This record gives sequence, structure tokens and C-alpha cells, in this order.
Amino acid sequence: MLEHDAVPAPYVRVGAMTATLPSGYRLVPGAPHVEDYLVLRERSGLTPKTREQAVKALPGSWRACHVVLEASGRAVAMGRVLGDGGWYFHIVDMAVLPEHQRRGLGSVVLAALLDEISAEAAPGAWVNLLADGPGRPLYARFGFTETAPESVGMGMLLPTDPNPRTPPPPPSSGELSGQSGAV
Ligand SMILES: CC(C)(COP(=O)(O)OP(=O)(O)OC[C@H]1O[C@@H](n2cnc3c(N)ncnc32)[C@H](O)[C@@H]1OP(=O)(O)O)[C@@H](O)C(=O)NCCC(=O)NCCS
Repeated sequence: MLEHDAVPAPYVRVGAMTATLPSGYRLVPGAPHVEDYLVLRERSGLTPKTREQAVKALPGSWRACHVVLEASGRAVAMGRVLGDGGWYFHIVDMAVLPEHQRRGLGSVVLAALLDEISAEAAPGAWVNLLADGPGRPLYARFGFTETAPESVGMGMLLPTDPNPRTPPPPPSSGELSGQSGAV
């Protein structure tokens, strides 16, 4: 699942969508190494994660892939799928380093993940994600549609102190509406 062999094909196809990998980059199955994962999250503007979180999270991916810049050997784009293998597939950690954005790398990563789901899931799988602003046009191009108002994403962050003496007060509505979905 997390092996690091290169995918030979320079492009991936999902339905009518084809995404082409620009020259100088290599698509690699599996999550990036922990150091690259932490850098990719932070530099792309997603909330930074700790090494402890990354070490626990990455092996829990159902599938993942990343794009390596051949000149440096470092990961410059990534995406992961959390899933049960049959019905629920949740795409997370879509990120491209700023200086490598708008070259089609996000499309290649998303297409590769959707290819794997299409190949392995039972027919009728449910693929979903929480779309932050920068990703919405990309996801829409691949066929994702908004689920609201029938279903809205809901979430909560657990306290950072695992043994709080008193439970945290409930957030005000202003705090909730200002909360980014970029978890
Ligand atoms: C969202 C994100 C992953 C997209 O990655 P990306 O590599 O820039 O995506 P792509 O290049 O495939 O597509 C992005 C745009 O570049 C355009 N593009 C693709 N190849 C291009 C090229 N060779 N030249 C110019 N533009 C190109 C696409 O048409 C697309 O345009 P649009 O957004 O106006 O429709 C990236 O912007 C990112 O990491 N953002 C910060 C983190 C984030 O918000 N992640 C999403 C969390 S839900």
C-alpha cells in the first residue's frame, strides 16, 4: 500500500478526465516520507501537523500517492485516501508546494487516487472530501458536487491536552463560522 515504486505511465485517466504529469516529475504510489509530508502541509497552507501525528496517520492511509521532483528527490505534491475499501472513501491531504502549483500536479494526484478507488471499490462507492477554497475548482472538474444543503460537513477538534481538568467551554457561533475546514 505504501510502497515507493514509480508509476511508469506519465498520465492517469479517470472517466473522461486525463491528467498529464509534466516532465521532471515522477508519480509515486504511497504517502511521502514523514519529513516531506510535514513540509507539504505547512508550506501549502494546510494546518501544520506534528511528527507524532504524521507517524500515526500515514500508515493508516487506504491509498496515497505523491509526486517527486526528480531533480531533488523530494515530494512536491501529495494526496491520500482514508477508506474502508468497499463503500466509504475520504480524500485528504491534497497539497502541492506553492512553487509547483498550476502545473497539473494536483490533477495528477487526484486522478491517480480516483483511478485506484475505481479499480478496487465495489460499484457505487461514495467518494467525498472537505473542499477548501483553492481545491474547489479542481474537485469540480473531476465531478465532485456540493452536498449541502442535504448534507453538511461537521467536525470537532479534540482538546490538545488529553486530560483536561475542566471541559472546554462550547465555542461561540462566531468561532465556529470562522473555523477553517483545512484540518
Ligand atoms: C488545491 C491544490 C492541491 C491544487 O493543486 P495544483 O497542482 O495547483 O492543481 P492543478 O495544477 O492540477 O490545477 C490548478 C489550476 O491550474 C491550472 N493548470 C493546470 N495545469 C496548468 C499549466 N500547465 N499551466 C497553467 N495552469 C495550469 C488548472 O486548469 C487549474 O486551474 P483552475 O483552478 O483555474 O481551474 C493546490 O492549489 C494546493 O495545494 N493548495 C493549498 C492547499 C489546499 O488548499 N489544498 C486543498 C485542501 S481541500
